[in-house]
Amino acid sequence: MRIALASDHAAIELRTFLAEHLHSLGHDVEDLGCDPDQRVDYPDYAGAAAGAVMTGAADKAVLLCGTGIGMSIAANKIVGIRAALVHDVTTARLAGEHNAANILCIGARVVGPLVAAECVDAWLGAAFDARHQRRLDKIAAME
Ligand code: RB5
Repeated sequence: MRIALASDHAAIELRTFLAEHLHSLGHDVEDLGCDPDQRVDYPDYAGAAAGAVMTGAADKAVLLCGTGIGMSIAANKIVGIRAALVHDVTTARLAGEHNAANILCIGARVVGPLVAAECVDAWLGAAFDARHQRRLDKIAAME
């Protein structure tokens, strides 16, 4: 799978860790930054990753910041994006099964790297349950 990965300055270590994890699983990771030793604004990176998903340059994206909140708020401004902020494996799996989340957001200051990797695995491995399609259609109609 082609996975775009981006973070702000609060999540660079977690981004490096998850990039290696995803590479080790055979995914094609497009690292969109940010550069180390920079203080940046998370909407710039949320926009870049969301754009990659919406143009088809990436199948899915993982966005990381301190809490994951800012990234999820920003990414969800983009039409067609369903960005889910998760803190555990169960919500990560359900973000795929119920919400067809095309972006996963995680907070590096609140979730440890091993749990974050398990969240990504659970989300990528989840199959969307079509019984939830009607809700997604209603969300799309709101856009
Ligand atoms: C940056 O200090 C911090 O605000 C950001 O990483 C994130 O937590 C915002 O939601």
